[in-house]
Amino acid sequence: MGGALDSFGSFTRYFLQNERSNLEYLSYVMLIFGVQSFVLLQYFPSPYGRHGSSAWGFLVNGKFAWFTQELPAFAIPVLLVVFADCPQLGASSNRILLGLFLLHYFQRTFIYPMLIRGGKPTPFIPYTMAISFCCANGYLQGRSLTRFVAYPKTWMTEPRVWIGMLLFFVGMGVNIHSDHILMNLRKPGETGYKIPKGGMFSFVSGANFLGEVIEWSGYACACWNLPALAFACFTFLKPCSTCHATPQMVQAGSLKITPRKEKP
Ligand SMILES: NC(=O)c1ccc[n+]([C@@H]2O[C@H](COP(=O)([O-])OP(=O)(O)OC[C@H]3O[C@@H](n4cnc5c(N)ncnc54)[C@H](OP(=O)(O)O)[C@@H]3O)[C@@H](O)[C@H]2O)c1
Repeated sequence: MGGALDSFGSFTRYFLQNERSNLEYLSYVMLIFGVQSFVLLQYFPSPYGRHGSSAWGFLVNGKFAWFTQELPAFAIPVLLVVFADCPQLGASSNRILLGLFLLHYFQRTFIYPMLIRGGKPTPFIPYTMAISFCCANGYLQGRSLTRFVAYPKTWMTEPRVWIGMLLFFVGMGVNIHSDHILMNLRKPGETGYKIPKGGMFSFVSGANFLGEVIEWSGYACACWNLPALAFACFTFLKPCSTCHATPQMVQAGSLKITPRKEKP
């Protein structure tokens, strides 16, 4: 036990001594996982939601799973701001960009789980993968924006920032509105699947995922740094079996074409 703690301590010291380059490596790892998941999801469905089963570990209550798996992405940047050295946080650009990230994860952690109706439980393996991802991503985005990324004073006047922020809010609106449509398909007590209509579902089947892709693309455009780009690509490619966009759109698309087949 003592040996394991010593090794962990040495690893942490080494990691922090080279933190800037380690954050870069973490961004590349996120990209690699994204590509890997993208390939895997061409052959296997995501093991949660309508495709979840106890073959992927014991089942965790859906609302509890969403709350606890998303919480680290909100809590870690907040803890960094409160307890860590944050030399870049004096700049309004860094505060605003971090604010966008926190805004999304506040909604996803504290509001989204409350709105779920009849959501399926999440198997333990994808649940732990989602927690790991949110821990890594919360640290990556939070630490970059509070400690390492230094923007010029005029950053917030750059067109790429305004375009990025516009995309972020449009994407967030599409995501929340589309999730709202999905949540209201079920009457209280129902757990089955119906065809979503209206909003962006008139144009695409995976409207909530499309919203998320637009949102994080806008965030990457406004931040213009490697960690934000890695996260946007991850959202697009789907890095692990619990976090996905494009393949899920494909799967959601197949729901629209053959709804009966998709129903458990
Ligand atoms: N950034 C990322 O990489 C990432 C990764 C994953 C998720 N997300 C976001 O997290 C949110 C939820 O993701 P998700 O994978 O759970 O989305 P989802 O499969 O579309 O499900 C969302 C909710 O709506 C319900 N639902 C879906 N289709 C339905 C239908 N046809 N009829 C009735 N109810 C339906 C689901 O119930 P069931 O649970 O019973 O299926 C679930 O409660 C989305 O906004 C997504 O964009 C983001």
